[in-house]
Parts: sequence; C-alpha cells; structure tokens
Amino acid sequence: MSNFFQSPIATIPSDTTLADLIVDNGERGQFKVHRSVFRDDGILALERDRIFDRCWLYMGHASELPAAQSFVRRMVGGRDVLLTRTKTNEFKAFFNSCSHRGAQVCREAAGRKSAFQCPYHGWVYDSDGRLVNVPGRDAVPESFNDDGSMNLKGVPRLDAFRDFIFICFDSEVTSLSDYLADAKPYLEYVADQGAQGMEIVGGTQEYSSPANWKLLQENSADGYHGATTHASYLDYLKTRDGAAPQFDPALTFGNVRDLGNGHAVAESVGNMPWGRPYARWVPGFGEDARAEIEQIERETLERLGAERGEVVTRGDRNLLIFPNLVINDIMAITIRTFYPIAPGRIDINAWALAPRAESAASRDRRLKNYLEFLGPAGFATPDDVEMLEMCQRGYENVGGNEWNDLSRGMLRDKPFKSDELQMRVFWRRWRELMSRTPREGVAR
Ligand code: FES
Ligand code: FE
Repeated sequence: MSNFFQSPIATIPSDTTLADLIVDNGERGQFKVHRSVFRDDGILALERDRIFDRCWLYMGHASELPAAQSFVRRMVGGRDVLLTRTKTNEFKAFFNSCSHRGAQVCREAAGRKSAFQCPYHGWVYDSDGRLVNVPGRDAVPESFNDDGSMNLKGVPRLDAFRDFIFICFDSEVTSLSDYLADAKPYLEYVADQGAQGMEIVGGTQEYSSPANWKLLQENSADGYHGATTHASYLDYLKTRDGAAPQFDPALTFGNVRDLGNGHAVAESVGNMPWGRPYARWVPGFGEDARAEIEQIERETLERLGAERGEVVTRGDRNLLIFPNLVINDIMAITIRTFYPIAPGRIDINAWALAPRAESAASRDRRLKNYLEFLGPAGFATPDDVEMLEMCQRGYENVGGNEWNDLSRGMLRDKPFKSDELQMRVFWRRWRELMSRTPREGVAR
C-alpha cells in the first residue's frame, strides 16, 4: 500500500504503509502512534471511507423522538441525516436531500411533523420517506414514482440497543448486537439507572475544537490527566466540599477493559471519590439531598439485586464505543459524539441522559453537575479542549518528535484506569479497519 498519501503536509514517506504508523511491541512494552495520523488529509479521507462509512454510528436516543411523527436531524458521519418516528412508531433514517433537485427537505434540528415539504419546489414526503405530493403532478407521467425511487433515500441500516439508536452507511455491516460486543453490558448499566427508562434532557450542546477527532476519543477515558489538566476543578471541590479527591501518587486506580471491536471501558466500582448526583451522596450535594440520594441507592439495589445494583449505583464508567461514541457515566451522564471536519478540526455534540420521572431536586443536581463538569463551559471541557488544541499545534510542528507514546501499563497483567490500554484498543482497531481493502456497496 504505497503512495497513498497525497497530503499538502507531506510528512509521510511515500513507501510507508498504514501498519507502519503504529508500533505495537508487546515484548518491549512499547506502543507508538505516528503523529501524521492527526494532521494528514489522506488519512482523513481513508478514515471517512473505511471507518465512518463502515461502522455503526450513534444517531440519537429514542427519547428524543417521544411520539409518532417526531423527528431529529443531525450530521452523522459527514452526512445530514433525518431520523423519524413514523405513524406506526418505527424509527427510520433518511439522507436529508430531496429526490427532485437535492435541496435539504428539513431545516429544523428536531420537532414533530406529519410531512416534510421541500422548501425549493414544494415536494412533500411523509415520515416514512414516501413522496406524497408533487406540485403540478400533471406534468410528469402517471408512473412517475412507481418504483419508489423518488421517495427519500433511506440510510442503509438502522438498529437500536436499549434506546440507543445507531445507523450505518454500509448495508453489509454486521448486526448492531455483534458490533457492540462486550460493550452491551456497560450500555445496560447506563440504561438501567432509571426504573422507568432514561431520557435526554435539554437538547444538544454543539461546539467545535481545532483538534483531530481521535484526540477527543483518547482524552475521553484518559485517567492519567486528571490531577494536572483538571487542577482547577480539584481546587473548586476543595473549596466546596472542604476536601478534594487525592490521586494516588502511583496513579494505580480503577480498571480498564477491552470490550472487543475497538470498544473499551475505564471504570471504578465503589471507589469513586467525587460523587454521583443520582445515587451517591457527597458533601457538595448538601445535607438536604442526602435522604433522597440514599433512597435512590436503596431502590436501585432492590430493583437490580445487590451485585448489579452495586455496579450501577456506586460504579463509574467512561465507555468508548468505536469509533466516536463516548458515554461518560462518572457523575451526571454525558453522551458525546465528534466528527472530523478537517484533520485539525472537530464538531462535537453532547447530551445529558437522565432517569425518567426523577424528582425536580434530583434533576436539578444532575444538570448542575452535568454543566459544571463536562458542559462546554464547565470545569473539565475547556481544560480538555485546550489540551487537545495544544497537542494539535504540537503535531503541526513538523520536524520535532514524530511519535506519540501510549505504552503506559502495557506490561501490567491488569492495567489501571490511569494506564493507556483503552487508547491502544482503539488504535489497534483503527489500524485493522484502515488496512482493509475497499469494498463496493457502501453508500457514498
Ligand atoms: Fe426539492 Fe425541488 S429540490 S422540490
Ligand atoms: Fe479531562
């Protein structure tokens, strides 16, 4: 695989193969990633083709479409996608482009409609994507849409797991269940938190960052950076609670697991020191909140049984679903996706997920916690985003060190959350998919 890279920043030698961009030496405990993968246009083009066009991608949560004929529209994998709930309560996904001359048929981000009228010449589609009206119908033959080719074009695959809805542009992709592999039980720990199910609260947060998309993937379950990157948050906790979590100086906390197919989790069970607004009381929530939080914990243990309930209420987890879905279930629950706009730029979407029918007080604690930590103006996100930007600038500094090191914990039998196994799991899958031969039949 030579001469692949026609990048304006010609930093990858033309005889380099994709496999050469990662050094994975288990014996020496050495794992390195070549920095060109963060700045090269040729790499991004291949990622679009071999990763975003081939993998199941998170589209949204069923609660965002609460009734028949609700819809959500968002960019997924570089495409404008319209997700609808039909009259018969089926979920369907369409490319948001009119079959006449291509205009977007929907401009709103979400809502409820019995039909979508293209703003250009007025063709009308129902929530099943069927073309139901053409102004001036007499000018086209009777047989005009007999074969359905004038309906909205559907995204080849759509499936859901516990209300998490995914789509795929490759009709031949493996089933969603097989794709999610061992990440499924972790999605269930998240979904099981509400006795009556879970719901997205308060819409979508959208922001951008001048960094490569893979940097946010790495950062989202990086247990190593907390004490330095998030020093201001720890200071805030000290002021608020009178004490801040102490990181063990050897940084040997939590667990990390390879969940198959590039997915991974960094988790703690029972030892997370800074609170869970839904089921684990810390002084910062105030004495007033204590009785309710303890009641939620008791109810969850009763409902799910001691063992599972313990994991759900007292554990925390940063779950990474390949390639770009992150669920930070560590305080309030944050769902995030991020898509490349250019090698050095990402658009990020984030949502707060919460148990349905929780009390107003509990919802209030949760949303404060969501905003104050992982919100775009919270204590964590601006610090993280700044670090990603600084990495990206470092990579543009061609001629310096060309390799990132991700070897931490590689020689341990059981790596910790503060190690880098979760990143290695991602990169190994990245290399495997990027090295696959192209195949026909993928929607482009
Ligand atoms: Fe949609 Fe013409 S482009 S009706
Ligand atoms: Fe962080």
